[in-house]
Amino acid sequence: MYRSHNCGELRETHQNSEVTLSGWVQTVRDKGFVIWADLRDRYGITQLIFDEERSSEEIMDIARSLGREFVVQIKGTVLDRSSKNPNIPTGNVEVLVSEIKILNKSITPPFTIEDQTDGGEDIRMKYRYLDIRRNPVKNNLIFRHKVAMEVRKYLSDQDFIEVETPYLIKSTPEGARDFVVPSRMNQGQFYALPQSPQTFKQLLMVGGMDKYFQIVKCFRDEDLRADRQPEFTQIDCEMAFVEQEDILNVFEGLTRHLLQEIKGITLEKFPRMTYDDAMRKYGNDKPDIRFGMEFGELNAVAQHKDFGIFNDAELVVGIAVPGAAAYTRKEIDALVNWVRRPQVGAKGMVYAKYNEDGSFKSSVDKFFDQEDLAKWAIATGAKPGDLICVLSGDANKTRTQLSALRMELAERLGLRNKEEFAPLWVIDFPLLELDEETGRFHAMHHPFTSPKPGQMALLDTDPGAVKANAYDLVLNGNEIGGGSIRIHDKQMQSTMFKHLGFTPEEAKAQFGFLMDAFQYGAPPHGGLAFGLDRLVAILGGQETIRDFIAFPKNNSGRDVMIDAPAAIDPEQLKELNLKLAIKS
Ligand code: AMO
Repeated sequence: MYRSHNCGELRETHQNSEVTLSGWVQTVRDKGFVIWADLRDRYGITQLIFDEERSSEEIMDIARSLGREFVVQIKGTVLDRSSKNPNIPTGNVEVLVSEIKILNKSITPPFTIEDQTDGGEDIRMKYRYLDIRRNPVKNNLIFRHKVAMEVRKYLSDQDFIEVETPYLIKSTPEGARDFVVPSRMNQGQFYALPQSPQTFKQLLMVGGMDKYFQIVKCFRDEDLRADRQPEFTQIDCEMAFVEQEDILNVFEGLTRHLLQEIKGITLEKFPRMTYDDAMRKYGNDKPDIRFGMEFGELNAVAQHKDFGIFNDAELVVGIAVPGAAAYTRKEIDALVNWVRRPQVGAKGMVYAKYNEDGSFKSSVDKFFDQEDLAKWAIATGAKPGDLICVLSGDANKTRTQLSALRMELAERLGLRNKEEFAPLWVIDFPLLELDEETGRFHAMHHPFTSPKPGQMALLDTDPGAVKANAYDLVLNGNEIGGGSIRIHDKQMQSTMFKHLGFTPEEAKAQFGFLMDAFQYGAPPHGGLAFGLDRLVAILGGQETIRDFIAFPKNNSGRDVMIDAPAAIDPEQLKELNLKLAIKS
């Protein structure tokens, strides 16, 4: 038996009992006649004590030879500890070691395996298995497990069935590039890894499964960010015989359950906002509504003077930054520079300080008098003491820029409270989105999404105006889930493909199986998928999903620990009948 207890278990009540523990040596403090060592496992840390008076010479010798991260098994007696450590649950006891066995040695680890480590991100990724021994990473993985368990529990209780769908499939378009896998048995042909199980879950509805879910890996070859990984996990769900309202209610229920069970937070009914309103009020389809700073459109009150920049702009829009009228010239210049950074891309920023005494001081005093500026304050909801920041230009770009500024300021002002959770359903998304590069429309969600009832005809006349039965769940400014009511009629699906620029032959070749299935009594259906990594990270008070994934990829999509991707053996290439393109 390797252990009678784990390293986080022993308390004063165990005093004088004989125990066996196994774990890793975190630290050794050698005072000559007495040696202390901290023994760690997943459950915690227990202090071991060896002393010349009570321990044999052989044991003292072994204790002296212990190095960091050695794996040992000890037997000993639980004793009251003279200098107690209130910071750890086992801090009132220590174990006097009577037997010790080194189970495995360790070379010196490349960074300290403690909560505050000296290891940078790169080295910790290379030795991720050591990083996982550290509390911050380990606790995140345990947290993720808890969330996944609660998801399974809730959905199973609601009669959802978890069904696995294949990974070696054909392209499922979710807006990214596919990862492809060559087939040896079908040379010259490739599988695509699923960007999501979208078509399969729809086929499960045709198959009568009624309520499906799956905690499932998805693969997308896209540019990486803090909230994106090339392989990530979805809580993928689908239901038959449902309308949008049913879906929103069920998954609002799931989210509320998770917040209650995991965070102990009871939430009221989630607010809903149309996509158009989200864009108008926050310049963003995933607004963080934990704080205000709603956009105030200023065209009507700022385009009547000689200020050419505003007069030429499609949109003049501002936000009131709470308490920021006191910003110094230097602080404001820094903000102007911030919006001018290429990542944001604004040409400049106009500001007006709404002073505590009710007067205004702006960067455009030459053009706008106090009365004008008072109107800006009304439009942006500014109060005395606030700073009104104004951007102008092309409507869509300006909204995006102001949205970035709003988030940045909220961060600086500490308004993004990690312990506060503000969910929001964003509904009525446009069905199609214009790709500026190609000038073609593509599906904003995916091509299986149904238009709002009665809007099909609009597709011919004003495709950009058609709204979809599509919705996103936003939590604290992050899109944690998205879905739609699907098309379940073959004719409508082929019309949709036509509008998306597929020839009938292309549509048949790629999605013939789905349209065929629709001929055999496909029920009305819809669903949604949560991003599990994002959900877990946000519930955990963070936004970087990498920290909640056991073995994540870095920003170049590499696993630096196993060194993937990598070249493959020429023999393998031959078997697959693949030739590498020669780089010119
Ligand atoms: P969608 O593409 O919106 O919908 O994806 C659902 C959710 O998955 C998460 N997500 C990601 N998380 C980490 N890294 C990524 N690269 C990544 N991409 C997406 C997001 C997102 O909200 N089949 C549809 C769902 C449906 O219609 O039912 C789909 O995949 O949190």
